[in-house]
This record gives sequence, C-alpha cells and structure tokens, in this order.
Amino acid sequence: MAAWLGLMSGTSMDSVDAVLVSFRDGQVEMHGSHAQSYPTDLRQRLLLASQNQATPDDLGELDTRVGQLFASAAQAVIAKAGLAPEQIRAIGSHGQTLRHQPTGSAPFSLQIGNPAIIAEACGILTVADFRRRDVAAGGQGAPLVPAFHQAFFGSRSENRCILNLGGIANITWLPADAHATVFGFDTGPANALLDAWCQHQTGRAYDADGHWAAEGTVDEALLEDMLSDAYFDRPAPKSTGKERFNLDWLKTVLTRHPGLAPEDVQRTLLELTAQSIARQLPEPGADTVYVCGGGTRNPLLMAALARALAPARLASTEALGLAPEWVEPVAFAWLAKQAVEGKPGNLPEVTGARGPRILGALYPA
Ligand SMILES: Nc1ncnc2c1ncn2[C@@H]1O[C@H](COP(=O)(O)OP(=O)(O)OP(=O)(O)O)[C@@H](O)[C@H]1O
Ligand SMILES: [Mg+2]
Repeated sequence: MAAWLGLMSGTSMDSVDAVLVSFRDGQVEMHGSHAQSYPTDLRQRLLLASQNQATPDDLGELDTRVGQLFASAAQAVIAKAGLAPEQIRAIGSHGQTLRHQPTGSAPFSLQIGNPAIIAEACGILTVADFRRRDVAAGGQGAPLVPAFHQAFFGSRSENRCILNLGGIANITWLPADAHATVFGFDTGPANALLDAWCQHQTGRAYDADGHWAAEGTVDEALLEDMLSDAYFDRPAPKSTGKERFNLDWLKTVLTRHPGLAPEDVQRTLLELTAQSIARQLPEPGADTVYVCGGGTRNPLLMAALARALAPARLASTEALGLAPEWVEPVAFAWLAKQAVEGKPGNLPEVTGARGPRILGALYPA
C-alpha cells in the first residue's frame, strides 16, 4: 500500500512535524512520526522575517535553510519507519508561513522552504505551495485542514467540531446531518499571544503546562476589551495570523488597562482563547469538540475550554484514532495525495474560493 509523507510547521515556529502514513477505508495508518526542532538562530531569523524585517538575501537564504530542515525531517521519519523511498508515493510539504495577507488588492499567503531541495534530498515527488491556488481563486487559502477533517472525522450519529489549537485556532464544523453544510474558519489567537507574552515577560518561548498563567487571575475588563476586536464578529470565510494578533496588538490593548500583573494578563489571554472559540461556535452546539494541536498539552487551557464549551463534551482527536500532535502533518500528507490523484483539496464554503481546486505544485522525484 502506498505511503504518504506529510511535513508541517505552523505559525508557532516551534518544530517541523513529519509523519508517514497510509490511508485506507477512511482510516489513517501511522508508519512513523518525527518532530524536528528549529535551531534557535534560525527560528529567530524567521520571526524577524515574519515581522517584515528581512532583506531579499535573508529571504533567499531562509528559503534554502528551511528547505534543508524540512528535508532532514523527512529523511528522519523515513529512517524511523524503515520504509524505502520507492514505497513513498509523495511528500506533502506545507512549508513555513512567513506572511498571510489573504485580502486586499494583492492578496497572498507566503510559505517558504524550497520544495526542490526536499525532492532532491529524498528522491521523492514533493507537493508544496498548497495555499496559493486557493488565494488565486479568490479564497483565503486557509484553513485547508477542514477537507481532511471531513473525510476522516465526520459522523452520522453526532455533531462534531474539530478544534486545532496552534498559534492560531481554527475550527471545522461537521454536522451529523449529511445535507447540512460543513464549514470552518480561524477563530483567532490561541498559542500565538500566550507565547508572545510569555517570551516578552519571562524569556521563555512558551508557558509550559500553563504553570505561570495559573498564578494569575482573569481580568474581566481586559477580557471584554480583547473580545471586542472586530475579527471575532466578522462572518466567515475568514482567516488570520500573527500579522494581526501579536505583541503589538496586546500592548495597544494593555495601554487601556494599566497596572495589571503580568501573570494576570497571561491568565486572561488563556481565557480569551477559550471564550473567543466558544462564542463563535454554531448554535445549537456540537455534541463533542475534538481538540488537536500543541494547545492540548496545556491543561489550564483545556480546563478553561471545557468550562466555556459546556454542555458540549471536550475530547482529544486521540478518541478518533489520531494523536493531537500529528493531525496537521497528516492533513498535508492527504492533501499531497489529493493533488497527485488530481482531486480538489479545498472546501470553497470554508475558504471562500470560487470553487473546488486542485491544490499544490508538483516537484518530480
Ligand atoms: N506543555 C505545554 N504547555 C503549554 N503549551 C504547550 C505545551 N506544549 C506545546 N505547547 C504550545 O503549543 C505550541 C505549538 O503548537 P502547534 O505546533 O500545534 O502550533 P503551530 O506550529 O502554530 O501550528 P498551526 O498554527 O499550524 O496549527 C507551542 O508554541 C506552545 O505554545
Ligand atoms: Mg508547530
């Protein structure tokens, strides 16, 4: 049976996640997985570039270095799984997003990580640049994972919501009624603001297990102020990124709430994630919300979500047979399969594109 390799690094820029999988009868069979951390200096340069602080030389070099890192993550997962390159039909590489500006007169979504380097290093057909065709067709280019969620996580017996807690949070609504519409969108910040404030105040890249936030309390005035951001009320299709929800955004809001303890801000940001998601879910709500992404490792965030989403049940995608840290890279392995088989990868009702499109460019083995 053909195997497919998925490579993903999200807006958190924490690691390149690699999986080797096969797809059979609506099930994912895992052959191997590997998480490759970004070297600190490379991550730092990527963060600067994502804030428009990069020259063309920087961009060219980063494109190469990220391509090399993605290639080594692919080689590592192939070695772990003990498969021969001939057994792998294609690699789907999301690349590293630098900027996502899907609206306006010159919309774009920019991912780097030269796919030619991956194809050359692995000797395997590589599919990349998944978002550009959707943007060219008038779509947001995001989120792209809902089609995968629909194909593998749908149910005829319960209304499900799939929630990904990455740097940004996105949901996919999967109604039990086969005639009801599947939809999805980015709800706003998840780990992006938690990480940014933690880094700014403590020097640590993230608040491990939410320990620091647990020392603080929610400030209701700050919470309501943040929830009044226009993005949360905007109708779908919509997508966002760290271009909007970043440290500058937070500092601007905080000028209206002087004197708060830093840990109270962190605790309130965590509540912002939970509340903004809960308020944007459809009514009547999901029977179960299945969560994936790095945010599932933060018990305080999961507890806040459970409270905000009740009476919906909260569960991990583990209950659907896929560990929460691997859902996104598996989705890009599946999107590569769709592209190779000439099938669409987007859901136009999610991204707002003019129609279904085959996503990605092919770099032959
Ligand atoms: N033990 C932990 N405690 C708290 N937070 C954690 C823990 N482990 C991971 N995280 C959070 O998860 C984040 C990484 O999550 P993930 O890889 O899903 O996001 P991402 O790379 O931005 O993906 P995307 O935005 O595409 O969904 C880290 O930046 C951190 O904030
Ligand atoms: Mg990540």
